[in-house]
Amino acid sequence: MKIRVTLLAALAAAFASAFLWGQTRPAAALSGRVMSAEEGPMEGVLVSARGPGSMTITVVSDAEGRYAFPSSKAQAGRYTIRIRAVGYDLDSPRDVTLTANGGVTADLKLTKTQDLASQLSNSEWLASFPGTEQQKASVRACTHCHTLERVARSRYDVEKLTAVIGRMATYPQLSFPLMIQKLVAARIGGGTTAVPLAALRRDDVLGDADLVINATPVGLTNAKLPIRHAATPRRCLFVDLVYGARPTPFLVAATRAGRRVLDGGHMLLHQGALAFERWTGERAPRAAMARALRDAGLALTQPDAAASFRVPRPPTR
Ligand code: HEC
Repeated sequence: MKIRVTLLAALAAAFASAFLWGQTRPAAALSGRVMSAEEGPMEGVLVSARGPGSMTITVVSDAEGRYAFPSSKAQAGRYTIRIRAVGYDLDSPRDVTLTANGGVTADLKLTKTQDLASQLSNSEWLASFPGTEQQKASVRACTHCHTLERVARSRYDVEKLTAVIGRMATYPQLSFPLMIQKLVAARIGGGTTAVPLAALRRDDVLGDADLVINATPVGLTNAKLPIRHAATPRRCLFVDLVYGARPTPFLVAATRAGRRVLDGGHMLLHQGALAFERWTGERAPRAAMARALRDAGLALTQPDAAASFRVPRPPTR
């Protein structure tokens, strides 16, 4: 039972050091108290320091308003201090310089903020809204695409806000104010007609389809969709948004019916590429990205086409 004994010894050592750490805390690199004229010592304030390594470390003040950054986490250099305590701004100091010896003390003075609205998180907005939980539930979903600050700061009457909400319904889930996208159906211009799933077996529904896209997660569980692939014209392309190491049953059946297929790997690739270009302003290395996906075991169904796809930029108003 050598292994067991060694393991126990290791655990004991770990406990002992955790215990010792609790007893004799290592000297703090930076510590002090958080105070405001209104509340005196302030508990629960998030104090963040961003230093030379450009990494930000955050600690929380205790019941006496004390905060401390462990020296193991901070190297010498100049640090910018930020705080988060709803209703307050950091008055001073805004930055501190840590020496190699550590032990710097900085008491933080907070003042009442002039702009409370810009500090609220979505949950704080929700908590501050009047109304029952049920009434609030109707605005909770607005946070899929943007913060509630945008909603709370708008100045519409009922009629105009209703029109705005109507416009929101024309955006897909991945649309947000910095990258506005319209629902595909509206962009193509016709609107969509809903048909029951069972209709996908009928020839008249699929008889002139050029493209059939499965946007459901059904392929993730290997379940089958009740669709008659062979009811489509020969030229029809079947696309599944699910991606994985193997084609989904939806695509397997399409291949068996002699139709062309494309799996969700391409969507993953081009979404990633567009996001990369948006963030960096550089052209995305699509071929390298496609290779990385293949190395990760994603079988792109048309590997050669991956590098040459043209994806039109979504409209940005
Ligand atoms: C599917 C994504 C999405 C959802 C969900 C969404 N929005 Fe928006 N919202 C947007 C986008 C994109 C913009 C910016 C483009 C625009 O103004 O049309 C925007 C802008 C706004 C604006 C500022 C523009 C203006 O005309 O004042 C308001 C107000 C707003 N949304 C309210 C809401 C409300 C209220 C809800 C929930 C009922 C909501 N939104 C849900 C995507 C969304």
